[in-house]
Parts: sequence; structure tokens; C-alpha cells
Amino acid sequence: MNDETLFRQLASLLARYRAREKEGPLLHYLEPEALSRLLELERPAAGDWRQILRWLELYLDHSVKTGHPGFLNRMWSGANLPSILAEMVVAVSNTSACTYEGAPVSTLMEHYMLDTMLELAGFRDGEGQMTTGSSNGNLIAMLAARNEALDGAKERGLWGQPPLYAFVSADAHYSLDKAANVLGIGTGNLVKVAVDERGRMDPDALARELEACRTAGGHPFFVCATLGTTVRGAYDPIEPLAKLREEYGFWLHGDGAWGGAALLDDGLRRRYLPGVERLDSFTWDFHKMPGTNLMCNMLLFNGRRDAFRCACSAGEHSYLFREERETHALDLGVGSLQCARRVDSLKWFLDWKYYGREGLAGRVRRYLELAEYAEKRIGEIPELGMVVPRESFNVCFRFLPPEGMDANEFNLRLRHHLFHRGDALVGVAWIGETLTLRLLVTHPDFTEEAVDRFLEQVIQEGRRLTGGSSR
Ligand SMILES: Cc1ncc(COP(=O)(O)O)c(C=O)c1O
Repeated sequence: MNDETLFRQLASLLARYRAREKEGPLLHYLEPEALSRLLELERPAAGDWRQILRWLELYLDHSVKTGHPGFLNRMWSGANLPSILAEMVVAVSNTSACTYEGAPVSTLMEHYMLDTMLELAGFRDGEGQMTTGSSNGNLIAMLAARNEALDGAKERGLWGQPPLYAFVSADAHYSLDKAANVLGIGTGNLVKVAVDERGRMDPDALARELEACRTAGGHPFFVCATLGTTVRGAYDPIEPLAKLREEYGFWLHGDGAWGGAALLDDGLRRRYLPGVERLDSFTWDFHKMPGTNLMCNMLLFNGRRDAFRCACSAGEHSYLFREERETHALDLGVGSLQCARRVDSLKWFLDWKYYGREGLAGRVRRYLELAEYAEKRIGEIPELGMVVPRESFNVCFRFLPPEGMDANEFNLRLRHHLFHRGDALVGVAWIGETLTLRLLVTHPDFTEEAVDRFLEQVIQEGRRLTGGSSR
């Protein structure tokens, strides 16, 4: 088979998949052993294009259809078509986005998008990088803060230095724990600050923790405001944290992986992100609410021009980066933790151009409307109950089984049944001792009817599992 035939066959496979992505079950679920048998993983296929195409077909047939209305598990669903096309082009052209020399178009597009986002955030004299996701964005922000806080940390490490402490809300994402581990801060020196009844970091509790740290001889160097917590969707208040920065001098980072998309709409920005322009750094994901193909993330630094290079570069790299090259200043790889960098800018750029800021802002407003609608409907259905009131985009609710049944265990079972039947894949999480189903609407085609259909599936399956009774 020549290249042209292969591309044609692949295109028709993909077009068929796209056409049926929203229909039928979410997944043809098979237990691992059965799937393994079907995949014939041991089968040789040297030079055998038919078998390669067969595996591609099997991959599509047995993948979770993330563009299906039942895919409610994660913070994205499906992907925007311009970014899908971009990903194909990136795969065919296969380059590394570390130098202008090797990736001229990607480099210019990445700079263009980062400048656009810096302006949107209101960051002056800043700089940005696409990273591999907000986990990495959080890590690099903490790294830059660490190196700024301690003279010579890059060269001498943490030996003989005062102990560093970082502060996050008790509901912050686990990537901050990983960052504390990787950077030698130690997970024990990542202080989890109490949240208020709405799941937002309590600034008074933070003030007490900072003071206790300083009194004990610690160095509070980094505070992360979570801007849209993973489970509850709460936004930590930036202004009071920025006020505390005046006294303690820490680096104030914003983790907007999920909720940073509120920046796209002026009204949502005022409501959820007041003071965002005062952050020292801010990370958020375009692969979540805005719908760009995974991964598409940015980390932005405020009022700093060389912080990526200072934080991330080390070692002799002149085989790759050459200062005498006229385009050297454009080379994004110099300030990256990676050497080779995946081209993530093309899909980002194309989505931005195709939908525009207003198109994406409308999408985010709509997700909020649908979350409001879901909360209202849950309030009207006696078998269902909100676990906590909705803060923003996250709807934390569950089925209320009859008294005497373990509601946590029941909801976990209910969720597995919905998945294995191919109805829906909905997230679960703990809020304190309570297991919650977490509904996130992140597909532009999702509607009130789809919310109703999903809730009806939960009720029907819940009733079936309780043998017809509920609370
Ligand atoms: C608040 C928050 N921060 C960070 C992350 C990690 O993002 P990524 O998957 O892009 O690494 C997530 C992911 O769900 C998140 O919800």
C-alpha cells in the first residue's frame, strides 16, 4: 500500500468514527482479558499495513468516545475540529518546538498566542511558555519562585538554606504535592490551608499559617491560589492573598487549570478572577473548557522577562541553542524543562482564530448556564441531592438511597453500572467523608435535554439498584 492509499483509508476510518461518535453506547466495554484477546497484542505485523489499519480500527472501536454526551468524567470532552486537523499536520511534519530553526511556524504561533494571553490576563512585561499541562505549569512556577527566593538555589540546591514552605488550599490539586516533592521542598513543607464553607482558601487561616511559619524560622516563599478547584470548582480569593504578599513577600501563583477559562469573558472574569492581573504567575489549560486537543497549556509570568530561562535552563546546550543565531531570542526551548518540545501551538492558534475569543467565551458562559440548570433540576428530583451548593462549573450531587444503605458505596456502584452499560462516565470524588458524583459540562453540543437524559439515567439505574426504593 502506498502512502496515498494509507492516508485515504485512515481518513475514511476517522470520518466514520466522527460521524458516529455521539451515537450508541459511550464504550463497548470489555474486561481487560477479553480486550487483550481481541487486540492480539502478540501478533506479528512486520510490513503488514492491513494489520496496522486493523489495529487502528480496533483502537477506535474500543476507545471511550470522549465526544459522546455521556462522557462527563473529566474536564474536557471531544475536541475542536480545527485542533484535530492541526494535530494530524503536526504528526505528519513531526518537529520539535525548541528552536525557530527547527520549528519556525510553531515558534511564531506560540509567541503570538502567549502574547495574546499575557494581554488578556493583564500581565505587563511578562513572558510565557506552553508546557505539558497545568501539573507541569505548577511545578515550573514553584521552581521559579524557589530560585527567586533563595540565592544560588540553582547551583547549590537546598543545602544549608532556611527551610522553604509553600501554601495551598486544602482542596488544591495533587500536582502541587508532586511539585513540592520534585523540587526538594518536601511534601511536609506544603502547608494545606483550611477552606471556608464554599471550598475557597480562607485568607485568615493563611495569615495564621504564614505567621506561624515565620515565627518558627521558616521561609514562606510560594502561595498558590486555586482558581477553580478540581472537585468543587471554588475560586480562592486573589485580592486578600495579594495583600498578604505585601507583608510576607512570597510568590503568588494562580492554578487556573480548570477555572482559568473564566478569563475569556469579562463578566466571568469580574465574578471569578478579580485581581488576576496581580498574580506573579498563572497557568491554565486550553484543553479543558476551551476544547483544544490534549495537551494545550500555558504558564504565564507577570512582570518578568527572563524567568523561564533563569528557572529552567542548565548545562551546556550549544549544540542546540546558538546565541549567534539571529533568531536565538525566539527559541522557546531555552526556557523549557524539556529538550524536545511537542508542537502544541498550531492547534491552539487555529482554535483561537476559528472560534475567536467571543466564541470561546460564549461556550464557557453556556457551560455555566447548563451547570445552573443541572443544579436546579437536581433540587427538583427527590431521589437526587446536591452534596454541596454549586460554586461555579462543578455540580457535586448524588443519588439518595434508602436509609440504612451506605450512600457512598451505593453511588460508587451506581457510577460503575452507568459506565459498564455504556450510558455515561461521570466523575466521582470525596468531599470530606462524602462521596460525590461530579458532573462537568464541557462539550459545546451539550444541552438542557442532555442534562435531563443523564439525570434520568442516574435515577433509573439508581432505582434499579435499590430495587425501586429511594429515600
Ligand atoms: C485545579 C487543577 N490543577 C491542575 C490540574 C492538572 O492539570 P493537567 O492535567 O493539565 O496537568 C488539574 C487537572 O484536573 C486541576 O483540576
